This record gives sequence, C-alpha cells and structure tokens, in this order.
Amino acid sequence: MDKFVIEGGISLSGTVEISGSKNAALPIITACLLAPGEYRLYNIPQLKDVRTIAHLMRVIGAKIDFQDHTMRVDTTHADFPEAPYELVKTMRASIYVLGPLLARFGKARVSLPGGCAWGPRPVDLHLKGMEKLGAEVELEGGYINAKAKKLKGNYIYLDVSSVGATGNIMMAAVLAEGTTVIENAAEEPEIVNLGEFLIQMGAQIQGLGTKTVTINGVKELHPVDFTVIPDRIEAATFLVAGLITGGELMISGCEPRHMKEVLSKLTDAGGQLKIENDVIHIRSTGHIRPTDVTTQVYPGFPTDMQAQWTALMAVAEGGSVVTDTIYPDRFTHVPELRRLGADVERKGNAVFIRGKKRLKGAPVMSTDLRASASLVLAALVAEGVSDIHRVYHIDRGYERIEEKLRKLGARIERVDDGKLY
Ligand code: EPZ
Repeated sequence: MDKFVIEGGISLSGTVEISGSKNAALPIITACLLAPGEYRLYNIPQLKDVRTIAHLMRVIGAKIDFQDHTMRVDTTHADFPEAPYELVKTMRASIYVLGPLLARFGKARVSLPGGCAWGPRPVDLHLKGMEKLGAEVELEGGYINAKAKKLKGNYIYLDVSSVGATGNIMMAAVLAEGTTVIENAAEEPEIVNLGEFLIQMGAQIQGLGTKTVTINGVKELHPVDFTVIPDRIEAATFLVAGLITGGELMISGCEPRHMKEVLSKLTDAGGQLKIENDVIHIRSTGHIRPTDVTTQVYPGFPTDMQAQWTALMAVAEGGSVVTDTIYPDRFTHVPELRRLGADVERKGNAVFIRGKKRLKGAPVMSTDLRASASLVLAALVAEGVSDIHRVYHIDRGYERIEEKLRKLGARIERVDDGKLY
C-alpha cells in the first residue's frame, strides 16, 4: 500500500494545470447509457473513481476506451442493467447508473452504496424520485430492484438539495413521458454540466443552475462529443496549498466563476488573488488571517473544501470555527491533524481551531478523499517529515497530486509502505 513521505517547510511556486471535474465526469459517463452509440468525452481526469465507473459501465455492456484525458464510450451493445455490490461498495457514485438504466431498459438492479438506503450517506431521495416518475422500487438483499414500463414526468420536491438525486432524476426524466419539475434542485456546476451534456444529446431542460429544473421528456436522444468542466475542488485545494506554504502559484485551466465563495474566503484569509480568464494567481503575504467558514450547498462554501480549510486555519494567526452543515460527521481528519500538532477540537458539526505558528511532522493516516488532501496540506507546512498512509484515498479525486506538487517545489515522494492492509 502506498504512502506519501513529505518534508514540510517549502513555499510552493509555479504553475499547476487543473484536471477535469471528477463530479461532473461521473454522471456524464453514466448518462451515455441514455442513447445507444459512440461518445467522445474530453478533459476526463485520470482518477481511480473514473476508472471504477468505467469498469461498471463495461459490466453493463458498454465499450470504454480511456486514453490520456479522452474517453470513448460506446453503449450500442449495453444490455446488462445491473450494478454489482463488489463495485458499488467502492464508490457511492455508482448509484448514477440507476436513472439511465431505468430510462433505457425499464429496469435496474443496483446495489445499495453502503449501509442501508436511509443510513449514513442515504439514497432515499434517489429512490423517491424514481418512484415519483412511476418506477416500482423494492429493496432486497442489499440491492435496489427498480422497474418501469414507461417513466412518466412528475413534480418532485427534494427535501435536501441533493447533488446525486438531482442528477439521477434528471437522467431518468429526459426520456420520460411528459414534464418533470425538480424543486429545491442542486445548483452545483457539475449538475449544470450534466444538464448541458443532456441538452446537447437532445434533451429539453430549463432552469439549470437554479432551484427549479424543468425537463420535458423526449422520445429519444443521440450520442454527442463533449468536454467536461474543470475540477473546482482540485483548483481550490491548490490555492490553499499556495497560501498555507506562504508561496505564489498560478492555477491554470480552472473556472473561477465556479469558485466565488472560496475565492472570497481566501482573500479574507490573506491571499492576494489575481484572476485572468481561466488562470488564478495567488500570492501569500506570509500571514494567514483566521477566517470562519460554514459549508452550504452551491453557491455557498463547498463541504468538499471543509477539511482543507481546517488545515489552513490550523496555522492562522488566531482562532476560527469551521462548520459543516452538509455532512455533520465529516471530521475524520481532525484527530490526524492533532497528531501534526494542530490545536483543533470538534464539537458536533463544527471544529474550533486555535491557529499555531508551527505544526510538526508525524506519521498520519488518510481516511477519506478530502481528509487526505487536508493532511497533505498540513504536512506541506509542518516542520520535518510526515508519512501519510493509505493514500489510495487521495488517488480517487486528485490526478497525480504528488507530481503536480513536486513541480511546484514540494518535497513529496510516493513510497510503498510494505503494508498489505
Ligand atoms: C456529491 O455527493 C459529491 N459526489 C460529494 O463529493 C459532495 O460532497 C456532495 O455531493 C455534496 O456537495 C459526487 O458528486 C460524486 P448529496 P452526493 O446527495 O450526491 C443527504 C467528493 O469529495 N442525502 O448532495 O452523494 C446526504 O446525506 C465527494 O468529491 C439524503 O439525505 O451528495 C447529505 O447530508 C464526497 N438523501 C446531503 O444530502 C439522499 O438520497 C448532501 O448529499 C441523498 C443525499
């Protein structure tokens, strides 16, 4: 199993190229099931999660060719409407095949992502959405069994502006009979990008990027070529890397319009930003100002940046509070940051941070994708050497992060830690 060995204390400098968005690519790849034929998808990031969804698509019968950052998807012969537990248990986003399978084949057997439909990281809104569109949904043996002769448009109110449920319902509704209105829909750029992809395929969708999305079902769609948006969370993570190490970075190939709240908070925290088209330049003044953050649905501060922000605040000049209103339990990075000397304390869905001048390198354990990013950021600024174990978590959502960081001057190596577990 790999670990990162990082020697902290280096101020990063230079230019980093941002990859395509993981959270836009995943539903766009499954949406290729909606119309048989060949698609070319560009700016697809080389990530573990993308390879997982490609594997799942092959199980369903699609042909996938993934070279560099272009993915050729041929769903002409897709014919197996199932998503097995072995694959779904490794990635929750596999649930994104549910809508497309129902729309194309009229049936789907998809493993529950983990726990039960209502347990941690539930999928109840996905299932209610499919039922609202006329599907019969049963849970049996850890699987979702859904079937529908013909999906029918309906009015669907989401109790929570779920990104995944909005995406899944949109993908099911585009081929349904009649009109579907999704109220309290997710406005995330990744869902807008999915909607743009569906419109290019011939779908009729209004209201993308607002709380009310209206879909007029059509008889059929057609394959298209499409380019996925840049990854706003990767871009934001590198901006924090520039600030936390007291460096100066150019983040290129990003979409600043998707990052307004994060850019505003980086400025509050002392980052000097210059934005020109798809390039963001950040310079640190050498002082990090304590800046409270509360995560919200888009366009608020993203929960996917909560752990990284906590690492930054650990070396701010004062106290701050970071609150997560989306995932009240997304704090597995906190005990690991304490091992690096951070003065952070979790209380419920908030972390109370007393910024310190120095962190000290130590062995730490990655626990999930964004927690790993938080530990890398803290290790970059900690005195001495840190070992970050189980970095397979970070490979799910960051493309070759150690190469990108090395190019910016970081002292980081990927090493096999010889452990099998
Ligand atoms: C997407 O997950 C992202 N993943 C997550 O990014 C991100 O953290 C999350 O949106 C929030 O922005 C992908 O896009 C692949 P949700 P998703 O449904 O769709 C509750 C990363 O780091 N909920 O918007 O699973 C849920 O419990 C990943 O890249 C229900 O109650 O998130 C949570 O509290 C991590 N019932 C809230 O909604 C449901 O049926 C937001 O979840 C679905 C969700």
